[in-house]
Amino acid sequence: MNPVISNTKWNASLYDTRHSFVSKYGEDLVNVLNPLPGEEILDVGCRTGYLANVVSERGAQVTGIDASPEMIAKAKHEYPAIDFMLMSATDIHLHRKFDAVFSNATLHWVLDKQAAIACIYNAIKPGGRFVMEMGGKGNVENIVAAVKQVLLNYGFEKEAGINLWYFPSLSEYTSLLAAKGFRVTAAFHYDRDTKLEDNVNGIKDWLRMFGEGFFKTIDPVVVNEILEEVQENLKPALFRTGSWYADYKRLRVIAIKQNVEC
Ligand code: BEZ
Repeated sequence: MNPVISNTKWNASLYDTRHSFVSKYGEDLVNVLNPLPGEEILDVGCRTGYLANVVSERGAQVTGIDASPEMIAKAKHEYPAIDFMLMSATDIHLHRKFDAVFSNATLHWVLDKQAAIACIYNAIKPGGRFVMEMGGKGNVENIVAAVKQVLLNYGFEKEAGINLWYFPSLSEYTSLLAAKGFRVTAAFHYDRDTKLEDNVNGIKDWLRMFGEGFFKTIDPVVVNEILEEVQENLKPALFRTGSWYADYKRLRVIAIKQNVEC
């Protein structure tokens, strides 16, 4: 596969309307980034550009990259003054270096984590910072377990064995960063149960947006049945006081590129 292009086809409009919590939660990470006027910031996995725009409104000069053509097209349309490019986290080829790299809710999609870390490292100026949040170990584990169980019940063994995401522990990820030459100055692995937008079809909507990779080879009518069953099975764990929640566990890291290249 061309490493620039994602093999997931994203519905960028649905991402903004039904899953806007991803960007809203990311605003807190922008505060951690604390972009200063004039700084050059690279947003890795900028999706529809919402957070790149928040960073830009603070006076920084932002470049956003994403591996999804649909997301980049929407970002360019929404925020024409910002520089957005179709580019994968494992193939960053830009002719300048940045004061900081920022990444929210993206790097768990990148299974070749060492390639992404190497690219991010190369994109940062010596002394610059990497501020990121992604799914950490145990992220959405109830949802993943329920999907795999129902797929197995239907006889879809190959699909039940698919690993779509990389959710590392704090020690694993910070060790990879340190091995590349980052000095990790803060790292948190915290629970953040996240309320989904739709009180009726919350889990089904979430899986249609983010879990498509499990179901690509399955007849859509059967997918509907599977999603219905998965959601029903998750009710005891993830439905409370009239709302659906996704069992998110976030890994948040701040790391500095040491002055000496390694
Ligand atoms: C997350 O942000 O943790 C996430 C989003 C979509 C799929 C898997 C994880």
